[in-house]
Amino acid sequence: MAATGKCSKVRPRFEMLKSMSIQNSIDVSNNQMIQEACQRLVLSDQQLRRIMQSMEKSMEQGLATSTKKVAVKMLPTYVDSVPNGTESGDFLALDLGGTNFRVLHIKLQGKETKMTGKIFRVPESIMRGTGEALFDHIAGCMAKFMGENDLKDAQKLPLGFTFSFPCEQEGLTKGKLVTWTKGFKASGVEGVDVVTLLHEACHRRKDIDIDVVALLNDTVGTLMACAFQENSCQIGVIVGTGTNACYMERLDRIPKLAGYVDEHGVTPEEMIINTEWGAFGDDGALDFLRTEWDEVVDRESINPGQHLYEKMISGMYMGECARVVLEDLAKQGLLFGGNSDAISVPHCFPTKFVSEIDSDLLEDDDRTFQKTYQILEDIGVEMITANDCANVAYVCSLISTRAAHLTAAGIAMLLNRMNKKHVTVGVDGSVYRFHPTYPTLLDAKIGELIVGDIEYKLMLSEDGSGRGAALVAAVATRLKEEKLAASLSSSSSNQ
Ligand code: BGC
Repeated sequence: MAATGKCSKVRPRFEMLKSMSIQNSIDVSNNQMIQEACQRLVLSDQQLRRIMQSMEKSMEQGLATSTKKVAVKMLPTYVDSVPNGTESGDFLALDLGGTNFRVLHIKLQGKETKMTGKIFRVPESIMRGTGEALFDHIAGCMAKFMGENDLKDAQKLPLGFTFSFPCEQEGLTKGKLVTWTKGFKASGVEGVDVVTLLHEACHRRKDIDIDVVALLNDTVGTLMACAFQENSCQIGVIVGTGTNACYMERLDRIPKLAGYVDEHGVTPEEMIINTEWGAFGDDGALDFLRTEWDEVVDRESINPGQHLYEKMISGMYMGECARVVLEDLAKQGLLFGGNSDAISVPHCFPTKFVSEIDSDLLEDDDRTFQKTYQILEDIGVEMITANDCANVAYVCSLISTRAAHLTAAGIAMLLNRMNKKHVTVGVDGSVYRFHPTYPTLLDAKIGELIVGDIEYKLMLSEDGSGRGAALVAAVATRLKEEKLAASLSSSSSNQ
């Protein structure tokens, strides 16, 4: 488990590159023109503070009303307790959120977790076909997993369903999809309860049945999985294919839940709110810093105008954003001898290339840009010079640094808003896990943006979507049993 501390100072990589460009006598005039052209990708602390302010305003609008019009939805999750460490038992978990779907069988025993599971691909034709076909695929994968693992009886096990898309929940076991994100577009699902769709798909097959006790977002699973280890965990963040955060909010600051009582007649003090911050900026709040390159990425995406903050940060878009910048620079004659043919192919530059190229910058003295050269050659760029490699790395580092700083603004805003003495932030997702410097950049910037004497710690979550789902299911089951026992004992003492 990697935990990072507060305020580690890092030297921005573009500065390292600047000095390197002098050492390696890179063509300075070209470099300066590129630096000028890319200046808009560098965000000042002042701009980041402006983002924090306007994000908090958007969040307050989301907390006040459930209308479709607000950009940041602030969805109640109906999870109001974190694990207390006593959770145990056998659970099933389903995890749908990207190109893969997972089925897991999880045994919680004290702090130990035993998991068996299987990963299934979700082909693009299914992601963008009918909702019925998508849920039939999910049910089919479950049936296969249960059959192969001799889990015929497991259908009676409590099941946690991690569904990593915005869902307007009416309770822990019911949630209507607000809108698809991350390249999904299956028809007939938006506006419909996804737990019902899952049940219907199981009934169509007839060979499996399930007991869904919790529907949750991956950020909630991440928070819960970290809270199981460190009970100060109050924020869960994902920076993977998509990005999002959830946090523990006081009920008296959620006007749209005024008068809420749970099924036992109790009003909890706090509840985890799934912010769906990926949609921040959809009302124009980010227009002051979005570039024409961001506009191209958005325009060419499957959901133009939606999830604009996510499109500046997450793994589904970071590589494409770098590619669009590089294409523009090549067209201006600043890269690849002015030949933009290879770099103009949409999606030829996935985010993992940004990570690999950024790791070339970690070499200390004689940067060889070996990986950068190899990647450019592989995608078919002809005539690659040493300058080109350095400049491509420069662009990649600007894009990933911008992503880290935008995420830092979101996390710092939540920490300032919560204003608790010590908060652990559970983080997961492929960008956070695999980008060589993203975690350090993120941590350093949060340290600069928080106010007062708040202390925080970033903690890498261990499989929040799987283990977290089992934990939410376990907490729900434990609370149900505790409340049942309490009501039984009070009714017997009344007799
Ligand atoms: C979804 C969120 C999810 C995030 C990370 C976003 O596109 O809207 O619900 O938490 O991706 O997976």
